[in-house]
Amino acid sequence: MKRNKNKITVAIDSPAAAGAGTQAKLIAKEYNLFYLDTGKIYRHIGYLTLKRKNINYTKIKYNISKLKIIDLKKKKLLTDKVARSASIIAKDKKIRDIVKNFQLQCAYYPPSKFNGSILDGRDITSVLMKNAMFKFYITASLETRAKRRYLEYKKLKKKISFKNVLKSLKNRDKLDKNRKFSPLVKTKDSILINTTKLSKKACFEKIKAIMDKKLNFNGNI
Ligand code: C5P
Repeated sequence: MKRNKNKITVAIDSPAAAGAGTQAKLIAKEYNLFYLDTGKIYRHIGYLTLKRKNINYTKIKYNISKLKIIDLKKKKLLTDKVARSASIIAKDKKIRDIVKNFQLQCAYYPPSKFNGSILDGRDITSVLMKNAMFKFYITASLETRAKRRYLEYKKLKKKISFKNVLKSLKNRDKLDKNRKFSPLVKTKDSILINTTKLSKKACFEKIKAIMDKKLNFNGNI
């Protein structure tokens, strides 16, 4: 299959609960892009390895070869326990290599009905889609992120205190930013979007203005 250079490619990196997923979904809808939340793949593996002492790479490789987008929509992936497990297995280079191909397929060979793709995660701008047409680093203060995640958990009826949500996010930030392979960084060519004081709408409008300017200029839309 040939890679279509005219397709729109959007790469987003962000620390946990900064609002990247919300923005990615809005962008995907606006420009008809295929969306992949790469964190869900790590959560999927984090879930599979929850009760395991040793990681069975062969089994994980097989599981990922059969992975369908619908598998990533399961509610069981949304717990804090699974998020923490995901952060731990995400440090492992072997695991990252196993999921790379699935992500690249989504990034560069999305189903033809889409105008392109949008991926969010921790290493999208720095590793996976280095040459993306648009690169954003979305962030927000730790307090704000913890408040947002706490409210999400409340809506999902998950029993977790605000203090523990904050602690868990802080710990994941530390793990994700300081690991050896594919740490979370803001690349020089990524546009910084700080959502601490921005509403979802204001944030989206900011991103849309940036994208429209370039797309109109290039004659893509
Ligand atoms: O985005 P989300 O919080 O669901 O991601 C769960 C975990 O998966 C992150 O804390 C991170 O350790 C890992 N991850 C990653 N690389 C990505 C996406 C997620 O290492 N591209």
